[in-house]
Amino acid sequence: MTKQPKKAKAARRPAACAAITAVHGYVPPDVLTNAELAQMVDTSDQWITERTGIKERHILRGKGLGTSHMGAEAVRGLLKKTGIPPGDIDLLICATTTPDFVFPSTANLICDMVGIRGIGSFDVQAACSGFIYALNIGAQFIETGTYRKIVVVGADKMSAIIDYTDRATCVLFGDGAGAVLLEPGRQYGIMDVLIASDGAGAKHLHQKAGGSRMPPTAETVAKRLHYVHQEGAAVYKYAVARMAEVATDLMERNGLTSKMVDWLVPHQANKRIIEATAERTGLPLDRVMVTINKFGNTTAATIPLCLWEYEGKLKRGDRLLLAAFGGGFTWGGIYMTWAYDPPKSQTGDSAGEKQAAKGATRRLAAKLAGILPLALSGSFAASLLRRE
Ligand code: ACO
Repeated sequence: MTKQPKKAKAARRPAACAAITAVHGYVPPDVLTNAELAQMVDTSDQWITERTGIKERHILRGKGLGTSHMGAEAVRGLLKKTGIPPGDIDLLICATTTPDFVFPSTANLICDMVGIRGIGSFDVQAACSGFIYALNIGAQFIETGTYRKIVVVGADKMSAIIDYTDRATCVLFGDGAGAVLLEPGRQYGIMDVLIASDGAGAKHLHQKAGGSRMPPTAETVAKRLHYVHQEGAAVYKYAVARMAEVATDLMERNGLTSKMVDWLVPHQANKRIIEATAERTGLPLDRVMVTINKFGNTTAATIPLCLWEYEGKLKRGDRLLLAAFGGGFTWGGIYMTWAYDPPKSQTGDSAGEKQAAKGATRRLAAKLAGILPLALSGSFAASLLRRE
């Protein structure tokens, strides 16, 4: 690994704050449980739960559906709940590692789907740290006074690049999207950011084929090179170190003790990485956002999905520490103060819980119809394996 990247020495002091003023999310209704995965590869609910904390994940099924469809659902919900017409949005940024196409960008497609026209929109690719990077970019446009309403999306259809015969990766990932609205904030908002990368990490976590270095051929497909390759144990070591480092650096730079931080919002790659980050920052687990049990690792979507899931519990002025680590390697963190109290309709159960419950309802209905567990898992497995 190369030497450590340079760190900014002091916290930023933006002249104006960029604040998240709304959040929304989307997970597709189809749920893939650990029990179903155990029908597909040599694994067990016990191994997955103990080693990762994941119980189930949502998978986007349906011909012709890509990351943009989930991103558009999240943005539609965001516009609906804020009552903001699409024409009022100044910029849309989408963080994703699984764009619908090499081009045009997923951000372009989302804008078209939700009726946002004529504005700048682009994708950001920083794997699991993508949302932190994108939020950071969006914040600069607000802080400079260039724009007043920016949508930042984190969306990934990881099931499109996962090898469902590889037990080391297929149990980890899920599909989903989250979106936030960024606006100028008076008192609250993004206070400080850190982003970093080390391209020497590529050998441990990458997708070999499908890009310009190794364009798709019959051979690359036959060799299963279009899927995520991850050396889990090596990545784990860096993830634990960098997630904790970025969180503690932000705390030090901003004079924060663990008692002053209301919520840690970690990327959701592995429950053990989340717990190690909490321990190293001195935060008890009841102040750590966790959704990995039901969504798995949705790459760029994990952090906005966490905010969506916990929106009903967040209060104006709460201090949040966001931290992520992912392919690249990339990592980053954001210290922000939350800008609004829970929407009245949403105290108590989160919107995420309600939507995730739809998946549970579908499974219950299927059970009642007598087609679960084995028949569905068999057909689901078959449909995932049939892709190649
Ligand atoms: N079921 C049963 N056994 C399994 C499974 C499975 N699903 N997967 C691996 N194993 C086995 C391995 O084959 C190995 O067996 P062996 O000892 O006989 O060789 C054993 O379990 C231990 O394997 P490890 O890879 O060492 O398992 P580990 O405890 O490290 O857990 C995991 C693996 C969950 C992948 C972990 O390493 C991890 O979370 N890594 C970091 C992931 C991460 O943060 N990624 C970055 C973001 S992703 C992105 O940016 C796209």
